[in-house]
Amino acid sequence: MCTDNVLTGTSVDGMTTSIPLDRRLAVDGGRPYRPPETPWPRWPVPAPNAERNLSAVLHGGRWAISSPAYGDTALFERRFAADFARYVGTRHCVPVDHGSSALVVALESLGLGFGDAVLVPALTWTASATAALRAGLVPVLVDVDLDTGCVGPEDLDLSVEPRAVVAVHWASNMADIPALDAVTAPHGISVVEDCAQAHGATWQGRQAGSFGRLGCFSFQHGKVLSCGEGGAVVTDDDTLAPVLQELRADSRRYRSRATPPGELDLEESAGVQGANFCMSEFSAAVACAQLAALDEQHDVRNRNYALLTELVADLDEVRLLQPAPAQTRTSIYEGTIIFDELPAAMDNGAVATALTAELGRRFYVTDEPLHRSRLLQPWTKPLLAPLAERFTAIHRDRSYPKTEWLAAHTVQTHHSTFLGGERDMHDIAGAISKICAR
Ligand SMILES: Cc1ncc(COP(=O)(O)O)c(C=O)c1O
Repeated sequence: MCTDNVLTGTSVDGMTTSIPLDRRLAVDGGRPYRPPETPWPRWPVPAPNAERNLSAVLHGGRWAISSPAYGDTALFERRFAADFARYVGTRHCVPVDHGSSALVVALESLGLGFGDAVLVPALTWTASATAALRAGLVPVLVDVDLDTGCVGPEDLDLSVEPRAVVAVHWASNMADIPALDAVTAPHGISVVEDCAQAHGATWQGRQAGSFGRLGCFSFQHGKVLSCGEGGAVVTDDDTLAPVLQELRADSRRYRSRATPPGELDLEESAGVQGANFCMSEFSAAVACAQLAALDEQHDVRNRNYALLTELVADLDEVRLLQPAPAQTRTSIYEGTIIFDELPAAMDNGAVATALTAELGRRFYVTDEPLHRSRLLQPWTKPLLAPLAERFTAIHRDRSYPKTEWLAAHTVQTHHSTFLGGERDMHDIAGAISKICAR
């Protein structure tokens, strides 16, 4: 019941409670902590040269890497491959159309047997696992480290005789790839880094993607480096690089010599069965421009994240997800707030809804862990039937307590929330305390 000054109600234990009106949560009809008209940063932010690059493609006569050579128009895809390989610090980069495709061709390039097991953390987007199925492999879900949210060496299940691990760098944290390597290398197990949430993150000064045998990136709309839809595989392996090129361009690679006028840059090298996973020239043009703006955006986000970490330090029940000490730069894909103790009578979904209402910015819970995700359903595709059978049998008696704890105690917000100023961080901290004080 609501009177002029107080909200009166009955609590879960049957007691009558009265709350002064100005402390009522916005979800309960109170005044939002942040005035609704206060704007938040928008995403994506077009980089200074994006428009110029797009126009160059539009009028340049080459809209795909399978376009015939036209005058002296160079392909943006090749330029992006060189720029991104330099950025990550690897010898090779093969751009593709999606991050999922990057994982598919990366796993295919390893030449594993049909039905071989690939370890995949349960706490990730469904594509980390469906890519394994698309490559003819069985994803075996494993738990994650409670501190980082990423698969750790103690989570690896060698009993299923895995041939690869998809090590996902989650939210804003890097997995400890050297530690994973120490366990997997003696068994000939390849580590594939899933860097869809970690562009530009560093571990002891070295970039995500440069540690594993292969590193896979997504440039989908919401990613910190975006061109709408896109992806890339990076590697230092000179034998895998040409295989990756063929897998993504219908068994064709780039010519080793200059392209004659009117011919394609691609030649039919035909070493392995490929498919078309090529990045469009429009996407590549945008990706080239956005890459130049990435580090500056990292600095802004990381400064704000550090400030918010400080601002919530006095709240015993709340903290922000922090990287392992060896991680030297964070790439915040999703800012992750951990509620060690959830506010009374609220689960993290209710907290996310309450924060959204207080701040006028979307806060949400993480994607459903894969062991109970409705999106991971290989039994619905006849082609995957033999893999689905093994997938179902393997997962019958598994549990993921650390993944479940993180899924139940975290609330996330998109990285662009951290692209504004200090005021935004003070508002988030204030809204968190208001909800905790309820
Ligand atoms: C961890 C992870 N892996 C893979 C992907 C797939 O990338 P894409 O959407 O570009 O196919 C995503 C996308 O959200 C992701 O977060």
